[in-house]
Amino acid sequence: MLEKFLILGDHLRPYVILNAAMTLDGKIATKTYDSKISGEEDLIRVHKLRKECDGIMVGINTVIIDDPRLTVHKINSKPSDNPVRVIADSRARTPLNARVLNNEAPTVIAVSEKAKNEKVEKLKKRAKVLVLGKERVDLVALMEKLKDMGINKLMLEGGSTLNFSMLSKGLVDEVRVCVAPMIVGGKDAKTLVDGPGFEKMDEAIKLKLKKYYTLGKDLILEYKVIY
Ligand SMILES: NC(=O)c1ccc[n+]([C@@H]2O[C@H](COP(=O)([O-])OP(=O)(O)OC[C@H]3O[C@@H](n4cnc5c(N)ncnc54)[C@H](OP(=O)(O)O)[C@@H]3O)[C@@H](O)[C@H]2O)c1
Repeated sequence: MLEKFLILGDHLRPYVILNAAMTLDGKIATKTYDSKISGEEDLIRVHKLRKECDGIMVGINTVIIDDPRLTVHKINSKPSDNPVRVIADSRARTPLNARVLNNEAPTVIAVSEKAKNEKVEKLKKRAKVLVLGKERVDLVALMEKLKDMGINKLMLEGGSTLNFSMLSKGLVDEVRVCVAPMIVGGKDAKTLVDGPGFEKMDEAIKLKLKKYYTLGKDLILEYKVIY
């Protein structure tokens, strides 16, 4: 069932934009985790959007698989343009040499009570660690904390598992997708939104198309989420 954000009104959490690049068949990575999908023009769009946002969030699998920097570096920028990096990492699995822990931007690691103290203490030397939730990170509580920290606009950069959790909790305001003219297939390849999914179409997250345009070979679609 869709959990609507009855507890958090718009003003108590950041405005969240889910952004991703996918193939025409909805894959955000191949079955072997290759995720180079966007063209150069789209990467510039993504970095402009990062610059507009106060925070940028990903799930721990994306950190482990892609080791992203999550900074603004494809366009002219200064260190203060970098958004705060936020990682949803219940068990504190973030590798200590992950690039999200470099000194290019501040980082928040949200863990749950499942995280081992010893690793949490190590992460605390490199990032702000928030303990939220018993099993998995409590995303509603995380949004509230981020808002308190001054993060008003948050970019959600995947992956598919975190995308589902954020959407199903009613925490996403916009979805922006770059559709690349490629088909990669593979039932085990990650799609834009995975997670447990809904059983019935009438439970689906409803969207309203706001804008569409081409960027090089890619098609950009921008939707508002209707709750
Ligand atoms: N093309 C694109 O635009 C794009 C963008 C980003 C990522 N990707 C691709 O996406 C793939 C990774 O996606 P993924 O679905 O495997 O992983 P993910 O969404 O990056 O991370 C999922 C993990 O986040 C942790 N998490 C903590 N709290 C959570 C919560 N409340 N709800 C959900 N997850 C929570 C969970 O691990 P714990 O239980 O251990 O905490 C969960 O398994 C990679 O191949 C990457 O390349 C593509």
